[in-house]
Amino acid sequence: MHTKRDSRISGFYKLSIEERIQKVKEFASLDDKDIAPLRRGISIEDADRMVENVIGKFEMPFGIAVNFRINDRDYLVPMVTEESSVIAAASNAAKIAREGNGFRTSSTEPIMIGQVQIIAKDLREAEEIILKNKGRILDIANKQDPILIKLGGGAKRIETRIIKDMLILHIFVDVRDAMGANAVNTMCEAVGEYIEKITNGDVNLRIISNFATERIAKAEVKIPLNIIGKKTADRIILAYKFANNDIYRAVTHNKGIMNGITAVAIATGNDTRAIEAGAHAYAARNGVYKPLTEWKKNGKYLTGRIEIPLAVGIVGGGTIHPLAKLSLKILDVKTAGELSEVMAAVGLAQNFAALRALVSEGIQRGHMKLHAKNIAMIAGAKGKQIDIIAEQLIKENNINVNRARELLVNLKI
Ligand code: MEV
Repeated sequence: MHTKRDSRISGFYKLSIEERIQKVKEFASLDDKDIAPLRRGISIEDADRMVENVIGKFEMPFGIAVNFRINDRDYLVPMVTEESSVIAAASNAAKIAREGNGFRTSSTEPIMIGQVQIIAKDLREAEEIILKNKGRILDIANKQDPILIKLGGGAKRIETRIIKDMLILHIFVDVRDAMGANAVNTMCEAVGEYIEKITNGDVNLRIISNFATERIAKAEVKIPLNIIGKKTADRIILAYKFANNDIYRAVTHNKGIMNGITAVAIATGNDTRAIEAGAHAYAARNGVYKPLTEWKKNGKYLTGRIEIPLAVGIVGGGTIHPLAKLSLKILDVKTAGELSEVMAAVGLAQNFAALRALVSEGIQRGHMKLHAKNIAMIAGAKGKQIDIIAEQLIKENNINVNRARELLVNLKI
């Protein structure tokens, strides 16, 4: 049972880092041990075990997007990103989305596709043989992962495709709560030998496809027009039409969506490259690259929706990273499907925030504000001084540490 949690935390950004940690601890019922990795990160020995030729660690900011309400449940969303404004924008969009009862999401079963490339003299004959022996092929695949089978997953069906002078076998694997690459690749490698034997052919590649068309997450949101204004809603729809008709714009539109999705993927130890490759291919699935979201006016609402393949896991792979474990605890998602739905909602929120900023004041102002605040802090400003000095720097169009120091000296508070 999910406990009742309220992610609507106003002024979260104004709190000190310790106060923010405290809020997250309370929200997710975490103890000191849970949050220790926030301060410690991973050891150099762990890093050395993760990849090759290690000489150090590269740290990134770990933030929390507040205000998310998804299917009537509140979430605090961990995001790891180097880009300023992303987390603030997601939090702000999620706050507005609450006015229309938050996000509604759904996801398909976690099915990934494994591909086996077969070269044979008579492709039709090889195809027939494979289909006749599909029971045995599924058996061999499923012998590789008894735990997955126990959990209700496993290889479920196969399909064949003849592409030019090759026969391609697709194995559809329910990977449950894993990202699935390990399970699927092991299965593909295991069936290869048997396929060579029965077809008298030559098996070349045996590998997962990152075009996860069977593992789709969807999210929808209703933004009341009285909150953002009809004019802004019309301009957002116009911005969507631009993306829908122009690849140059569509790529940037989708990049903004991925700002959010990738940040959650990193925070939860998921494979960002797999997700991004799949997302962009899905955007072009009908032969033309399109935006992954859609915006419309519907009565008193601006409605947005996103549909995106999300091959993410909550077990195995990078999720064993101590900070990924913490992220998953904060999210308290029960399945990989639930995580994919949260990520879809974050992507939609991110897109709404970007479009709203772009059709009004532009995005530079927000970026500048943060930059000016950083400069004010470097100059030694504290508390309320930071905002006052940052505003003055922006007003003077002179975001510079020396000027910030001068302003600080003359400041009365
Ligand atoms: C910047 O990282 C993302 C945006 O360019 C997205 C967009 O244009 O929709 C603001």
